[in-house]
Amino acid sequence: MSSDIAIGIHDLSFATTEFVLPHAALAAYNGTEIGKYHLGIGQRSMSVPAADEDIVTLGAAAAAPLIAAHGSDRIRTVVFATESSIDQAKSAGIYVHSLLGLASACRVVELKQACYGATAALQFAIGLVRRDPAQQVLVIASDVSKYDLDSPGEATQGAAAVAMLVGVDPALLRIEEPSGLFTADVMDFWRPNYREAALVDGQESIAAYLQAVEGSFKDYTEQGGRPLEEFAAFCYHQPFTKMAYKAHRHLLNYCGADTDADAVERAVKASTAYNSVVGNSYTASVYLGLAALLETTGEDLTGRPIAFLSYGSGSVAEFFCGTPAPGYRSRLRTAAHREAIDRRTELDYAAYRALHQRSFPTDGGDYPTPAQTTGPFRLAALNGHKRIYEAR
Ligand code: CAA
Repeated sequence: MSSDIAIGIHDLSFATTEFVLPHAALAAYNGTEIGKYHLGIGQRSMSVPAADEDIVTLGAAAAAPLIAAHGSDRIRTVVFATESSIDQAKSAGIYVHSLLGLASACRVVELKQACYGATAALQFAIGLVRRDPAQQVLVIASDVSKYDLDSPGEATQGAAAVAMLVGVDPALLRIEEPSGLFTADVMDFWRPNYREAALVDGQESIAAYLQAVEGSFKDYTEQGGRPLEEFAAFCYHQPFTKMAYKAHRHLLNYCGADTDADAVERAVKASTAYNSVVGNSYTASVYLGLAALLETTGEDLTGRPIAFLSYGSGSVAEFFCGTPAPGYRSRLRTAAHREAIDRRTELDYAAYRALHQRSFPTDGGDYPTPAQTTGPFRLAALNGHKRIYEAR
């Protein structure tokens, strides 16, 4: 199959949680000067899942509008990327497959490499589509980011899911070759199987991320990628939105380019609009950045190269380019995405803390879940160690 057929993201939809905690409430509780959150890390609020929401309900809510708009006849693969997995064996994607009523003639698999997983899923999807251009692949990135209460990471929590339909002649974004790749064995952020909250060495994680920016761009250049000055905008993985600014300054420095603050802001600001109020959505974060860029920039980006830097601690990074397809602006889901963010109910600090401390009993009993979400899908119960989901 010729490699010059256009393949990429045909449609993109995201979902986030029922609840939101403003950073002002966190700061009032822990005595932090609010400027540290609003300016220092660039976060204003974080999405908080209801007791009956998880990566499956978020993933299904993100994907349902894609199925409603395009049907599912061509989908023969679902790839579910997450680093907040709910089961060590069964793919969360199978629950989503079932909630969406997809055909049984379908392969479903879960992918993991920290926040990088969705980009691996996207690239694998492109490979499958290249093999059979008649098929589409449903890529879902869904995560709940959880750190220990009262830890420095707490302010960077968040949760969201992005669903992307990948196919030929994409209406939204064409993905180009080559990719720049980078892997390094570092312990900057990880979550052992026995822990619900991630462990992180904050400063080490920032240094590892910057190293990966440099490494993946170096490889991108060596693979014959575009020169830096051709890019109209940059979508970075955003564990907190100030990280995109740090990363871009680092890349400009590495390339010997001017690191003028206005130039940095022009390159990344639009991509941070959603992440700054949703928080870290791990695998979904860089694609939430894409949605924000396309939906909030005043510019027409048709055919203009957008750089992507996907980073997953541990670590793996990929630098690649996508170009918005002609007519992409009429395909955006701007109103639905704003609604997903604006409809969240604000929690006070005590209610957030109670939800954070909640965990399922592990004795195999029958435990209905409090009905809290008003979203389209909910986790209804844990019954004999099985998660029971329902469409509302
Ligand atoms: N007004 C304005 N700015 C202020 C301020 C104030 N009153 N007080 C502090 N600041 C600034 C600081 O100067 C600092 O800015 P710079 O980084 O530009 O110097 C910023 O606020 C943060 O301050 P600290 O570094 O002192 O904050 P901290 O020790 O609480 O840790 C953190 C910050 C390391 C990001 C922490 O929140 C953390 O560990 N987060 C989780 C890990 C993470 O997100 N790592 C990112 C890379 S890893 C990755 O990308 C994968 C992933 O998704 C996790």
